[in-house]
Amino acid sequence: MIRFVLDGEVIEVEDPDPTATVLDFLRYTLRRTGTKEGCAEGDCGACTLVVGELDGGSVRWRAVNSCILFLPMIDGKALKTIESLSRGGPLHPVQRAMADGHGSQCGFCTPGFVMSLYARSIGAVGTEGIPVKDVIAGNLCRCTGYGPILEAGEANPPGPAGDDDESAALLRTIAPARSGRGWFAPRTSDELADLLVEHPEARIVAGATDVGLWVTKGLRDLGTIIFIGDIADLRRIEEGPDSLTLGAGVRYSEARDSLARLHPDLAELVRRIGGLQVRNAGTIGGNIANGSPIGDMPPALIALGAELVLRKGGERRTMPLESFFLSYGKQDRQSGEYVESVRIPRPVADTRIRIVKLSKRFDSDISALCGAFALRVEDGRIAEARIAFGGMAGIPARAPACEAALTGQPWSEAAFEAAAEALAQDFQPLSDLRGSAGYRLAAAANLIRGLRLEPESLFDV
Ligand SMILES: Cc1cc2nc3c(=O)[nH]c(=O)nc-3n(C[C@H](O)[C@H](O)[C@H](O)COP(=O)(O)OP(=O)(O)OC[C@H]3O[C@@H](n4cnc5c(N)ncnc54)[C@H](O)[C@@H]3O)c2cc1C
Ligand code: FES
Ligand code: FES
Repeated sequence: MIRFVLDGEVIEVEDPDPTATVLDFLRYTLRRTGTKEGCAEGDCGACTLVVGELDGGSVRWRAVNSCILFLPMIDGKALKTIESLSRGGPLHPVQRAMADGHGSQCGFCTPGFVMSLYARSIGAVGTEGIPVKDVIAGNLCRCTGYGPILEAGEANPPGPAGDDDESAALLRTIAPARSGRGWFAPRTSDELADLLVEHPEARIVAGATDVGLWVTKGLRDLGTIIFIGDIADLRRIEEGPDSLTLGAGVRYSEARDSLARLHPDLAELVRRIGGLQVRNAGTIGGNIANGSPIGDMPPALIALGAELVLRKGGERRTMPLESFFLSYGKQDRQSGEYVESVRIPRPVADTRIRIVKLSKRFDSDISALCGAFALRVEDGRIAEARIAFGGMAGIPARAPACEAALTGQPWSEAAFEAAAEALAQDFQPLSDLRGSAGYRLAAAANLIRGLRLEPESLFDV
């Protein structure tokens, strides 16, 4: 049985289907139909709600997409849906501002927008210090236009959540289950390691921002599932003088500030991953483990020289991140092994770093191409070049010919031109709906040329 807190009540779900979505449960079982299904793939935000977890004495809330959130993932947590806001009383100020400012026409997107703006108004995870437009970048409106919605957000600046005490008190009374029919939810890395040795075929689910779609769009049966989102030691962030280590379960919005301190381009890259709801669920470990050729973090982390730690039972092994990706869909991960953490060295002095994502939309879009460049300059020459791309091959990969063309060369037009041309030896990109092979090669080469032209101050460490 799983339990979660909703509007001052503990809701119990007997024997949940591990891939039933929270959205369907709300709409079809609880008949809370305010939360809408638009896309069922995390893109439109119509299904946004907030999930709360105990953090010390208080509750930390975050907005997520309920269409790709599986029921066991809310075990032991609190929810607020659009119905929670007024509970039959006067409208919440965010709702009031939306109504007064005519922020809704057909109304289908409205509950999702309200929940995103509400999340900001209670200082939810990931909303700190970002403009309203970034808070709602994962919400799509087809008819109203965003002006009045943005104004409703501006009218409701961040403050404390009203009924945190009630939610926190109830959360303390429920202990989450560790397993159910066809699923496990270990609480420690050791438990996870043992479970995977026993069930090497099990599917790991972290934030479900990839896996959720296999179910809602691919209609796949995932078999046995191990949910890892509540393993505290996988959520650890260690900022040392020489490196930053991120546990595989660290979500993008939690990693953003530490990544920004490593290099500002990393934070900008994170800002461009999905919408806030996706960044509040998706993990860095999931982005690496899924092996996608267009995952955004791998090229950036490869260029920075990151190392991956994998664990199987009691054994750990460490490898350069680029070695993890073997060929399209194939990673160097043994049966029963999992990604434990990634260690990113702090750039050494005189390293020029640039990370660029090219996609059709600025916000909430998958890359056509992602290029990451770390060039160490010594006495006016490029002493070391680490260049990695996503979207140029079946895996995220370094560009050895391009790196060789730059290494030892002065910071000159001739060197960058040679490096741009060398890219054709490194990659034979594919054509797909995000970009043709010709576009990808030309755009990647132009990114290399552009490096020389950028003012040094923009990207010097
Ligand atoms: C609307 C939307 C927008 C998106 N935008 C972007 C984008 O801009 N850029 C981008 O790169 N991605 C994007 N994604 C993809 C996705 O959000 C990321 O890949 C995310 O990092 C996946 O993390 P997760 O925790 O949700 O993984 P999950 O979906 O839980 O898992 C993904 C895969 O990794 C495996 N896995 C997870 N953790 C581990 C582990 N510790 N060890 C071993 N295997 C593991 C799972 O078994 C599964 O195969 C988007 C997704 C959505 C829905
Ligand atoms: S229904 Fe579109 S994000 Fe969930
Ligand atoms: S009001 Fe119709 S989609 Fe936003």
